[in-house]
Amino acid sequence: MGREHLSSRFGVILLSAGCAVGLGNVWRFPYIAGKNGGGLFVLLYLVFLAILGLPVLIMEFAAGRAAGRPILSLHSSLTPGKPAWRLHGFAGLAGNVVLMMFYTVVAGWMLIYFVRTASGFFSPLDPSGVAAAFAGMLASPAEQIAAMVLVCAVSAAVCAMGLRRGVERVVKRLMVCLLLLIAVLAANSIWLDARDGDAAGLRFYLVPSLERMREAGFATVVAEAMNHSFFTLSLGIGAMAIFGSYIGRSRTLLGEAMNVAALDTLVSIAAGIVVIPACFAYGANPGQGPGLVFSTLPNVFNDMPYGRFWGALFFAFMSCAAMTSVIAVFETILACAMDAFSWSRPKAGAAVGAALAVLSLPCILGFSAWSGFRPFGEGSCVLDLEDFVVSNLLLPAGSLCFILYATRRFGWGWSNFLAEANSGAGPKMPGALRWYCAVVLPLIVIAVFVLGLADRFGGGG
Ligand code: PHE
Repeated sequence: MGREHLSSRFGVILLSAGCAVGLGNVWRFPYIAGKNGGGLFVLLYLVFLAILGLPVLIMEFAAGRAAGRPILSLHSSLTPGKPAWRLHGFAGLAGNVVLMMFYTVVAGWMLIYFVRTASGFFSPLDPSGVAAAFAGMLASPAEQIAAMVLVCAVSAAVCAMGLRRGVERVVKRLMVCLLLLIAVLAANSIWLDARDGDAAGLRFYLVPSLERMREAGFATVVAEAMNHSFFTLSLGIGAMAIFGSYIGRSRTLLGEAMNVAALDTLVSIAAGIVVIPACFAYGANPGQGPGLVFSTLPNVFNDMPYGRFWGALFFAFMSCAAMTSVIAVFETILACAMDAFSWSRPKAGAAVGAALAVLSLPCILGFSAWSGFRPFGEGSCVLDLEDFVVSNLLLPAGSLCFILYATRRFGWGWSNFLAEANSGAGPKMPGALRWYCAVVLPLIVIAVFVLGLADRFGGGG
């Protein structure tokens, strides 16, 4: 079966950017930046994106384009004589599935918050009422289950419609709306911060401070910055490889990867500008964790002229960003299912949608019926465990696999990788980077990976 290709270069870039841009940018990045003291974390994150994220993205695109297959059968098609690499395929597929087990739930929260904001639910509430509303939502599973099932059903339906008709068309439109929206909201936020005179929010967010980094813990900040750079570019589990397989050979991969990374980074930085100064302007704590967006922003919008409108737009934007990533990951899982069982698109879509809706239940129940399960002690829940498995284990380990696979002879090998990455027009990946990619990159990933785990389990975190 010939692989479908996308109809335009713009489509490919927006589609992979649609996968990259998601809850990672607008929900995870602002609260992690807040927790890790802003400034220096943001700087480190940018450095990791450039020195690690970009090359790994090129490697993942290249392996995907050369194989023309999803992660499960990618290695056996490129290097049939090296069966051990198939383990990476299984780990990647597992990564996609575990990611979706909490991602669809948080995407559902965005939908719920969109409806609540648009309908004026938050308007009469004071800050404690807003916080109570979030806790109340967590405690009652029915609404969350409905929203999560809707997310799964719509994403599966879009994938079932087919790549070009469904995925490309929908994601392209969503991405353009999203970019316009975030620009408007960021401008509004800068205006808010400046109006209050001292721009404390922007300074926290953009000015590096060793003091704040020490407070958050050096090892934690470094490890979180690296892990989040993989998370935000969707690296390590084959989610990007699938888009590589849809890119034609007329362009080099360095150029495409730079575009995707730049778009993704732009959205993250803008999302930070939207969220963090707004917290300062209204006296909320930017370091409070995953609830940041949900328990503070409704207050912000309540106090703002036309806040209900801006709030509804914001959560609409968050919902779109989340949906494009869910659709992209569903596409990967679907492609694996179609490859493995020779299923038709609609059949695979229905099966994957239904399976993921069931698998997402533990995350929701973790806030109510199963709240006694505390994987990391007081205050932690199923979501924390799932996020940890994906963000701190599978993504960095999977990215390390892609690096070794693309640069070492026991994998696919540097010359094959370079030839694939550089075929087509556009900027080329310099061959002189071999030593850096084959030796320095793996060492950085291993060092930071170990540092992060030691910090978490060694009593430091
Ligand atoms: N990059 C996506 C985001 O920022 C999340 C993601 C991670 C998607 C890994 C696919 C694979 O939200």
